[in-house]
Amino acid sequence: MRLDKLIAQMQIGTRSQVKDYIRNGKFTVNDQVIKKPEYKVNELEDRVCFMGQALCFQKFAYYMLHKPSGVVTATKDSRDKTVMDFMQDAAGKDLFPVGRLDKDTEGLLLITNDGALSHRLLSPKKHVEKTYYAECEGTLTAEDISKLEQGVDIGDEKPTLPAQVRIIKQSDTSYSLELSITEGRFHQVKRMIGAVGGKVTYLKRISFGGLLLDESLDKGAWRALRQEEIAFLTEQNKNNKEG
Ligand code: URA
Repeated sequence: MRLDKLIAQMQIGTRSQVKDYIRNGKFTVNDQVIKKPEYKVNELEDRVCFMGQALCFQKFAYYMLHKPSGVVTATKDSRDKTVMDFMQDAAGKDLFPVGRLDKDTEGLLLITNDGALSHRLLSPKKHVEKTYYAECEGTLTAEDISKLEQGVDIGDEKPTLPAQVRIIKQSDTSYSLELSITEGRFHQVKRMIGAVGGKVTYLKRISFGGLLLDESLDKGAWRALRQEEIAFLTEQNKNNKEG
């Protein structure tokens, strides 16, 4: 990838500051001073130094994407645009999305090449929490809320695990809520709302494994996770209850 892009992602400066540093000869790649911001580097193999100090690139890359509606969660698709089409300038090889959001669902999607972390976050045994904001048609009674909270029959072998419900708005014909679940069944939120007689008209994931969607990201925009976010995601979900 371009040297200026790689350096900017390390938060050494803004893209334009980074370009100035490069043009002023502050970077070497494999011991050669490079003054062209567009110079292509391989972050996994090249030795990049800033004012004589070697920069350490991580083995794994971690990003959050604000997934827009209308794109599929896949690495490739013959018909539709995929979430990976937004990630072309991201550093790191073999990136993939962690889990799936429906084509019409928006919000937080993790993109990484860390298979072990992805496996842990998606394991049904780990009960990693995901919170969704949903706008729905219909009405939600106290009894419906208690069904969602206790576990509801969505036509699978077992009812859903207990969920947390936070009502945001309610009218005679519609409502919005935040729903936190610890499973990842197919169309789970839509089916849970369906099971209490409602219909989801808008769905957005706002947190995953304790990581919150950065609301400053426009739809389709992404950013690298900060060191403390990576540590949090890794630590927080290491010892989640099995069983
Ligand atoms: N539940 C759904 O119904 N859809 C999603 O995309 C995610 C959770």
